[in-house]
Amino acid sequence: MEEKLSFEYAPAPESRALVTIKPKYGHFIGGKFVAGSKHFPTINPATEEVLSQISLAGKTDVDAAVKAARKAYTITWSKMSGKERGKYLFRIARIMQEHSREFAVLETLDNGKPIRESRDVDIPLAAAHFFYHAGWADKLEYAGLGTTPKAHGVAGQIIPWNFPLLMLAWKVAPALAAGNTVVLKPAETTSLTALLFAEVCQQAELPAGVVNIVTGDGSTGALIVNHPGIDKIAFTGSTEVGKIIARAVAPTNKSVTLELGGKAANIIFEDAAIDESIEGIVNGIFFNQGHVCCAGSRLILQESVAEEVIEKLKNRMAKIRVGDPMDKNTDLGAINSNDQLLKIRELSAAGDTEGAQRWSAPCELPGKGFWFAPTIFTGVTQAHRIAREEIFGPVLSVLTFRTPQEAIDKANNTPFGLSAGIWSEKGSKVLWASQQLRAGVIWTNTFNKFDPTSPFGGYKESGWGREGGRHGLSAYLKGVSHE
Ligand code: NAI
Ligand code: MG
Repeated sequence: MEEKLSFEYAPAPESRALVTIKPKYGHFIGGKFVAGSKHFPTINPATEEVLSQISLAGKTDVDAAVKAARKAYTITWSKMSGKERGKYLFRIARIMQEHSREFAVLETLDNGKPIRESRDVDIPLAAAHFFYHAGWADKLEYAGLGTTPKAHGVAGQIIPWNFPLLMLAWKVAPALAAGNTVVLKPAETTSLTALLFAEVCQQAELPAGVVNIVTGDGSTGALIVNHPGIDKIAFTGSTEVGKIIARAVAPTNKSVTLELGGKAANIIFEDAAIDESIEGIVNGIFFNQGHVCCAGSRLILQESVAEEVIEKLKNRMAKIRVGDPMDKNTDLGAINSNDQLLKIRELSAAGDTEGAQRWSAPCELPGKGFWFAPTIFTGVTQAHRIAREEIFGPVLSVLTFRTPQEAIDKANNTPFGLSAGIWSEKGSKVLWASQQLRAGVIWTNTFNKFDPTSPFGGYKESGWGREGGRHGLSAYLKGVSHE
């Protein structure tokens, strides 16, 4: 019999004393905070506590931000040498690091993700993106992207709520390194770290108007997308909105990159190291509550090991600590919004009615806030909605296969193509499979690894273009093909 250890974890809460949240925020335009007219609340999804009031930017605010960005581009930023631009980026990176605890706490309060993840993943990676791109600013001529690389001008950037500061860094760092100025809009549920980043820009004495941040919802996003004063659009979010944006910019001269949804296959071959793959499966789908575009949301298991993997996976899932995101021992935090929770519930209910078998880890969910227990569905077929649609939550759909070719066929049978995982001890099989998979990022014997030097992006409905690395830089330079 397995011996049961009964030590309880003592609470290990991170202090929120080091963040000061203002009752109300405006926009950051032309280097200054300016008051907004309409406001909406931003809440802590773990408690439903209202944290602050965020401004909803309308046409006048977006116009002002674009004007400030254009002026900064024309007068300052486009005239500055790459070496000088690089200094500002290095400075921003270092100030972000100095404020890393503050950023981590704020991110966790506003987003619901575990403090361990915002502290160890989001914030360090965000700073790393600025350091990496700071290094490129004076070396663009040597990037293999033409001998006289030129910036687009003003970039309009729209980001989602799953990695708020990190997505800001993915957008702002390459844009500035390549010599663009920006108007950025954070997602409506997670604006606070972007507004703290605006203070970092002030501390770094970044010339006014190089970075402008306007807050708001989809209506603000649409104003940015359709603004005639913007030269380049960069978007991360749902495929649905990505398609709207693609249509809106098609008749214009705007350059566009889209980083959209995914339904990644995580393939476990029978010769994989099973215990390690269990960790990879858990990291693949339960990291960040499964709010990850490249999440390994379809587990594709070789039949001969399926039973063993599912049993071990359930054991492991029962040990996932769900609850207070501010507790340093928490593994799975709150779902970011009530809307997202309803979407996860709706798709999971479709899994039940379509005939898949649901299993959720036994855990106590807090009474307030938005929560969903780590869940797997077995007996999933390719026709099920939970095998086709992005759930964007802690829900894993399990499919099985007999031959390697069947694994590839199932993995590729999706309108998406962002990422994939391969677990096998056999190098030739890994290489063969990675050549067959139609996905932009392929991990082998690991999952959800990110690095600023590595291009990230998708095939098919997962988007256009790449972010990170040399490929990502090209998206912010004129006349360079993205693929
Ligand atoms: P969304 O695509 O509506 O929001 C992403 C960003 O786009 C936000 O800043 C939003 O304000 C903005 N936006 C919304 N409508 C816009 C428009 N017409 N024009 C310009 N900007 C617009 O995503 P949402 O509603 O938050 O989530 C819905 C689903 O999308 C999720 O359940 C998930 O499946 C998927 N999603 C995927 C993400 C990814 O990283 N691939 C990120 C966020 C959501
Ligand atoms: Mg939305």
